[in-house]
Amino acid sequence: MRKDTVVVSGGRPAHEHDAPVNPPVVLTSTYRGAGDLNDRDRTYARFTNPTWEAFEDVLADLEDAPIPALSYASGMAAVASVLTLVPVGGTLVMPQHCYQGTLQLAHRLEERGIFAVRTVDVADTDATIAALRGADVLWLESPTNPMLEVADLPAVLAAAREAGVLSCVDNTFATPLLQRPLTLGADLVVHSVTKYLAGHSDVVLGAVVCSTPELRANLKKQRSLEGAIPGPFEAWLALRGVRTLSVRLERSMASAAELARRLSAHPGVSEVRYPGLPSDPGHERAAAQMDGGFGSIISLVPLAEVAATQTLVEGLSVWTPATSLGGVESLVERRRRHHDEPDTVPDTLLRLSVGIENVDDLWEDLKAGLDELVDR
Ligand SMILES: Cc1ncc(COP(=O)(O)O)c(C=O)c1O
Repeated sequence: MRKDTVVVSGGRPAHEHDAPVNPPVVLTSTYRGAGDLNDRDRTYARFTNPTWEAFEDVLADLEDAPIPALSYASGMAAVASVLTLVPVGGTLVMPQHCYQGTLQLAHRLEERGIFAVRTVDVADTDATIAALRGADVLWLESPTNPMLEVADLPAVLAAAREAGVLSCVDNTFATPLLQRPLTLGADLVVHSVTKYLAGHSDVVLGAVVCSTPELRANLKKQRSLEGAIPGPFEAWLALRGVRTLSVRLERSMASAAELARRLSAHPGVSEVRYPGLPSDPGHERAAAQMDGGFGSIISLVPLAEVAATQTLVEGLSVWTPATSLGGVESLVERRRRHHDEPDTVPDTLLRLSVGIENVDDLWEDLKAGLDELVDR
């Protein structure tokens, strides 16, 4: 089945007469059973839950994984779980710009002496491959949050495999409809399901997708012991969101492409990053490794200082000034308002998450703010 069918038809109950069409929210903390346990027993609700399983089946199918995904209480719980795979005293290679929570967590673990962190510009393939020497785990985001840099995934993932370095790609921005890192050579994929997969800014959830049963068994054990599990209702909401992923993305990507084009031509704009723009430094790479589009996040640097940029954001009415991304509503945020965002991110950079509103309403709102910058 094609992926836009999988989002709708995956993870449904068996086709039996009178079966519910949707998987139920299963509220239980334990499961019946008395004999010796085997690996397939559900046993206890910190180990698994039928509602998570429905979501985990669909996500695995979308990511072309041979085994079900694992769901977590949040994207960060999924990230934290994968970082336990870096051996004590080992080395993690990661992008200099990526989700700042992931960077912070890695650096905190480094400060505690657990492992060393090497940050690289992942758009620089030679530098990334060079950084793999003696490393244990390669963490990638592509496109990166919030700079939208594009890594040459097939090249760096092949180099990691050759060097015996375990690789994980945070695929939150692209979603499995546009990019499937396991097929490009990754060992693991992470999602902040909170974003596009759930899609309505009403749930926090994470997931890891594994390429082998051994990795999955290890991470599942880790999840059961650490207890960073989602609630059944959150998993159900995520699955409900996934049903419309394809149509939401189609709409938001078309608007993002149009807005990026219009923004590039506006005199109040200093720089626009969107991998779908033919002039974008990541365009060719993204076109080669992404399938069906370039996502719906735009990074924008206005021709203004911080205070005027802030005024622009506060003056918007169709766009919501808020952190996060991937929901049906368009969000905008000056990323450096987070004090932990790396200072190599321009202090006026705005991250735009394009939603599914009418594109002309989105444009007129932004244009009014940008016109004011020019007229000052
Ligand atoms: C790319 C990326 N990965 C991971 C996360 C963390 O996910 P969560 O907020 O669901 O914990 C985020 C959150 O913004 C993100 O943007």
